[in-house]
Amino acid sequence: MRKPIIVGNWKMNMTVTEAKAFANELKSLDLDSSVEKGICAPAIDLYSVKEILKDTDVKVGAENMYFEESGAFTGEISPKMLNDLDIDYVILGHSERREIFKEDDELINKKVKSALDHNLIPILCVGETLEERESGKAYEKVENQIRKDLSDVEKEAMEKIVIAYEPIWAIGTGKTASAEDADDMCKFIRELIGKIYDENASEVIRIQYGGSVKPANVVELMDKENIDGGLIGGASLKPDSFEKLVNFKRR
Ligand code: 13P
Repeated sequence: MRKPIIVGNWKMNMTVTEAKAFANELKSLDLDSSVEKGICAPAIDLYSVKEILKDTDVKVGAENMYFEESGAFTGEISPKMLNDLDIDYVILGHSERREIFKEDDELINKKVKSALDHNLIPILCVGETLEERESGKAYEKVENQIRKDLSDVEKEAMEKIVIAYEPIWAIGTGKTASAEDADDMCKFIRELIGKIYDENASEVIRIQYGGSVKPANVVELMDKENIDGGLIGGASLKPDSFEKLVNFKRR
């Protein structure tokens, strides 16, 4: 049985002051312990958020990293720095990194391998644009991304890695993919992992859906067979909304 996994992606939101207040409030909430949960925060917030949440079961993740451990890479953060803070996850290949900052699959592949080498859980994001969906190219796009981003990644890593299917047209737009369409793509991804690796890999891999997930639609999405979790932007920015997302089973 795959454990459900609900993760917030704060994106470029939350000052250190706001992040600390959020983390302190989270500590007082009654969050379902049968659900894996975490917050991916801007690099500058990570130290404080991890310090506050270190004795809880709420994991903490980064939103990106470079693949090298150190060196002349102005403005980047490294896996070694994340290890030093005991960070759990790192989001890689988010569509905002791909589209705005022009990260390509070759770079994302290096980051995925580096994260795994440093015992970080990569949350690898994939997904199509509206144009690609409307022209029937969504599945081809996602397959290409996964094959390239996981190139030379060992089968054993499938137990650890999380794939987030995030259709770009559903991110921050209020337009959620229907639970059926989201499940269809997650099923396709699961079968693809089965083809690249084997049946066991396809059974253990955890696949999230992301794109306008909120308390009002989380139950319907999480009910689907191939959706193991959610990667949530806007609705993860308030503790009460994050609590409702994590506690989706109780509703
Ligand atoms: P929203 O939940 O704000 O649509 O963002 C989704 C996302 O990009 C999470 O990584």
